[in-house]
Amino acid sequence: MSSLPSKIKIGIIGGGQLGKMLIEASRPWNTRTVVLESDKNCPASLVADEIIVGSLMDADKIRELAVVSDVVTFEIEHINAEALKSLEEQGKKVIPSAAVLQLIQDKGLQKEFYSKNQIPTAKFKLCHSQQDLITFSDEFDGTQLVVKHRKGGYDGKGVEIVTKNDIHTGRYIYPGPCLIEEYCEDMTEYSVIVAADQFGNLITYPLIEMYFNPRSNLVEFLFSPAEVTEDLEKNCTEVALQAVKALNSAGLFAVELFVDKESRVLVNEIAPRPHNSGHHTIEGSYTSQFEQLNRILLGLPLGNTEMVKPSAMINLVGGENQLGEYKLKFANELLQLPGVYIHLYNKKEIKPNRKMGHITVMADSIDELMLKAKKVQEMAVFEA
Ligand SMILES: Nc1ncnc2c1ncn2[C@@H]1O[C@H](COP(=O)(O)OP(=O)(O)O)[C@@H](O)[C@H]1O
Ligand SMILES: [Mg+2]
Repeated sequence: MSSLPSKIKIGIIGGGQLGKMLIEASRPWNTRTVVLESDKNCPASLVADEIIVGSLMDADKIRELAVVSDVVTFEIEHINAEALKSLEEQGKKVIPSAAVLQLIQDKGLQKEFYSKNQIPTAKFKLCHSQQDLITFSDEFDGTQLVVKHRKGGYDGKGVEIVTKNDIHTGRYIYPGPCLIEEYCEDMTEYSVIVAADQFGNLITYPLIEMYFNPRSNLVEFLFSPAEVTEDLEKNCTEVALQAVKALNSAGLFAVELFVDKESRVLVNEIAPRPHNSGHHTIEGSYTSQFEQLNRILLGLPLGNTEMVKPSAMINLVGGENQLGEYKLKFANELLQLPGVYIHLYNKKEIKPNRKMGHITVMADSIDELMLKAKKVQEMAVFEA
């Protein structure tokens, strides 16, 4: 696959908004797509050529998808990795590799991988019992710790901030296989998107600065390029590259980073797929994260990752008590602002904290971007 193939079909496991936007970006090149998802009315159903309805854990359904696909990828981690592995063994092209998926699915294995490869990460211990929690928690400074379930978490679900005292007194109960991690106080969160093609070439996007909603744990606002020193940007980019190189797989990766008060750069986790922290690249970059993944899957050259203009992204999420039908309240006002782009994810119903869409904001300078983004953020609400 070295030039634009006319009849290539991409198989995508998962039909959420990431799948939808990946397919949208594939359209200019006439790529065909087939999606595996349990709900035939999933977000990606609006744009996919074909939907295979079935569980993402069902090996037979994954095989059914692979049979009709030239290359298989996934837009969510909670899928049957064993099935992907056996497809790979039979010669099917799977990007990223099943081995990467298996590593990322288990936060414990992921943290051990960083340690083994000298990739800086917050201090941690794997725990298999309440006694482990009690014994190991004393090895950490400070009064607070972070407990992370090894498997099944997403968007902050499966991550809890607890006190040592709660662990010792049994107020906090061992939740099953987990890790405890040092609580990084007053850190800032960044992301570096790294693209790795099938030929061993890697490229990074400019640093992204992220702000999370403290209650929902969802990214609510981000912008890029981040406002940091050249040294810090370089440091973040190098750490992200080091981490992705160690994965040794083609794919598009979002490396989530913490930078603490002492400017220590720590890898929090890696998402082996397009990521919420890269949505601004749709309009803000010469090559969006979704086009980039299409290029990687099709064996095409990596695209330029420079920004067209400084850009921000605001997540559109369901408000408290919002249920059922919905509409974007200030759509008309937003659509009259230059450099403002609305994306909706084709979710059937609104729910509190459900990601319903996002808005990209572009401006000529970071100062102007912040002002414009603030105004947009106030209008980023639904009527349900
Ligand atoms: N060690 C830590 N110290 C402080 N905050 C943390 C720590 N680990 C996670 N968090 C916060 O919780 C969020 C979710 O944790 P993360 O490990 O990224 O899990 P998820 O898979 O749910 O994204 C992070 O983005 C960060 O805001
Ligand atoms: Mg995360």
